[in-house]
Amino acid sequence: MPGSTPAPSLASARLPLFPVTATVTEDRLTIAGCDLAELAQQWGTPLYLYDEATLVQAVQAYRQALKCHYPGPSGITYAGKAGLNLALAQWMAAQGVWLDCTGLGELHIASTARVPREQILVHGVNKTAQDLAAAVEMARVIVVDNLTELERLATLAQARSGPFPELWLRIRPGLAVETHAFRQTGQEDSKFGMSYPEALEAVRLCQAQGLPLTGLHFHQGSHFHDPTPLGPALDQALDFAQKAWREMGWRLAVICPGGGWGVPYHEDDLPHPSVASYVRFLAERLMAGCAARELPLPALHLEPGRSLVARAGVALYRVGAVKRTAHRRWILLDGGLADNPRPALYGARYSALPVAQPQRPPQGRAWLAGPYCESGDVLIEDLPMPELAPGELVAVPVSGAYHLSMGSNYNGARRPAVLWLAGGEARLIQRRESLDELVQRDLPLW
Ligand code: LLP
Repeated sequence: MPGSTPAPSLASARLPLFPVTATVTEDRLTIAGCDLAELAQQWGTPLYLYDEATLVQAVQAYRQALKCHYPGPSGITYAGKAGLNLALAQWMAAQGVWLDCTGLGELHIASTARVPREQILVHGVNKTAQDLAAAVEMARVIVVDNLTELERLATLAQARSGPFPELWLRIRPGLAVETHAFRQTGQEDSKFGMSYPEALEAVRLCQAQGLPLTGLHFHQGSHFHDPTPLGPALDQALDFAQKAWREMGWRLAVICPGGGWGVPYHEDDLPHPSVASYVRFLAERLMAGCAARELPLPALHLEPGRSLVARAGVALYRVGAVKRTAHRRWILLDGGLADNPRPALYGARYSALPVAQPQRPPQGRAWLAGPYCESGDVLIEDLPMPELAPGELVAVPVSGAYHLSMGSNYNGARRPAVLWLAGGEARLIQRRESLDELVQRDLPLW
């Protein structure tokens, strides 16, 4: 059409979703200088890749924003539930990022990775006796979910001679962020955290028992793009801190408004507001709130998961067959629901590029589906894609968070291999699960 600007190619629209080291040429898509076809050939598919340079940039974005916008002390905890293995745990620890472990299992990964006690924080909505015992032994901070748990901790403290972790109270602010209902946690009826009257009781109990209560924590939900609901939740927390100071002489040393900052998954989600804008919102609200209540600035601790690791991750799949039905072009891949349940669980919308000749123009829309026996095993619906032939590779960006940590062995799927890409090289950090491992825990009847 005369005068109209040509639509951007698929590759240029989608490249910003990929790791910062990703490049496209006419020939191929590369990440961290690595040839993805060679990696797939060597390690098989589905294959997960983590790009270190993108992780570095994500950590720096938080650090710089905190440094720039918050004059008090600050810190970052990586929410390990987004994805945890030895390499990621080691890497985060080496960056000085703390690690949030949910219970014994993630604590075991942290201790195997030798994450120092000073950098471990423990969360959990119903921590078992084992979780609590391990947390007391291994963590710097335990975030207390409820009063029953606090009583159990008081008993553990009495019996302990070594150092006891700092305690932060997890508050339920009665206000969630805007996100999928499954990811909302701050609402009044949520199973997470305690109400303010319960928190007051908790302060009393800690004082009576001499427990080291230092902080307040709330997490209103995950994958939000507008931090506005965090404002009133911060104000409530500061009102509480003021009351607890005046009435009980308890001083708030740390405040943690959780994690949950969203990321773009699809080109339609771009441009996405920056981490800096989110951190700035929190910092300004906190500074104004403290000034208004004549409270000293507490340490501001953030707890991101997805926004640290999602973009660093790429999933590589191989096309098995292409099928046409009445209204759809199906591109059948060798992975899906078992390594990424997010589309089925939350209707999450992803994008993709072919690894070879990624600049090909689209030839209509495609449904990219996995091999599993569920009609819900559709990784990407209704996505403009070029013609793809069996045997081709497809790369799905923004695959670094809540894929493998929520993956399964459905239909006997073996968990994928994971590579770490840095300095032009790929290192195996988790091998593909073996067939034998599928039956390793089983005991035969005969
Ligand atoms: N802190 C707490 C207490 C959390 O429960 C979570 C996530 C985070 C921090 C980190 O949130 P993030 O920054 O990663 O959004 N499976 C869902 C997400 C569940 C989030 C659970 N809690 C998904 O795939 O979207």
